[in-house]
Amino acid sequence: MPRLGPDPTSTNDHQFTTDRLHVDLPRAEDAAPLHGLLAGDLREEITATLIWDGPEDLAEVEGWVEQCRTATWEDWGFHWVIRDRDGSIAGQPGQVLGAMGTRPRDAPGRADVGYWLGRPYWGRGLMTEGLSGLLAYCFTSLDAHKMEADVFTHNVRGRRLVERVGMTQEGVIRHAHHKRGEWIDQVVYGLLVDEWTDG
Ligand SMILES: CC(C)(COP(=O)(O)OP(=O)(O)OC[C@H]1O[C@@H](n2cnc3c(N)ncnc32)[C@H](O)[C@@H]1OP(=O)(O)O)[C@@H](O)C(=O)NCCC(=O)NCCS
Repeated sequence: MPRLGPDPTSTNDHQFTTDRLHVDLPRAEDAAPLHGLLAGDLREEITATLIWDGPEDLAEVEGWVEQCRTATWEDWGFHWVIRDRDGSIAGQPGQVLGAMGTRPRDAPGRADVGYWLGRPYWGRGLMTEGLSGLLAYCFTSLDAHKMEADVFTHNVRGRRLVERVGMTQEGVIRHAHHKRGEWIDQVVYGLLVDEWTDG
């Protein structure tokens, strides 16, 4: 049987854990801490390597939370918050550290990944763990055949991350996006279910 991804009309009722992280649906009370992680200069730095430029205000984050809870797979994909599982990272179990998501691509069974972490949490191996967990979840529970990641060519940290979790560079889209006054090239990475090894 071909692997065709989630039911297109389903909404996100998924969650998963890794050693240090719990990844689940955002709740209304998560909007303020999420907004705090993306406020001021941090927004500029965190979103420099994302297509998204960050939220204009708290209301935009509240709208994102609502969309995560109500959108269907075919309309928007599935999106989650990343939490400190036991409080050892940010002090409180369940504290929000960032967000991640996966969206359908042109063919059923093909999907992409996207993610960001709050600045204080970079460089501790958290997204290596989180992205490995997301890929594992997509292959084992969301019936994915192929997972893809688009990474800005100059996002060296982001490229090392996807390579570390086993993704292969497939090509470069030149001038894929216009951001902050310049055209950005983008590297496309992919991982087939048959190539994926858990851990
Ligand atoms: C890209 C991003 C998600 C990386 O998250 P991160 O948690 O800092 O990534 P990791 O800590 O897993 O990896 C970063 C480095 O920490 C190192 N590291 C430190 N402690 C580690 C540990 N305990 N285990 C594994 N790696 C560890 C890794 O080896 C890695 O080194 P390298 O970059 O020199 O290869 C984060 O920088 C971010 O949110 N950036 C802005 C948004 C963005 O670019 N998103 C991706 C768009 S494609």
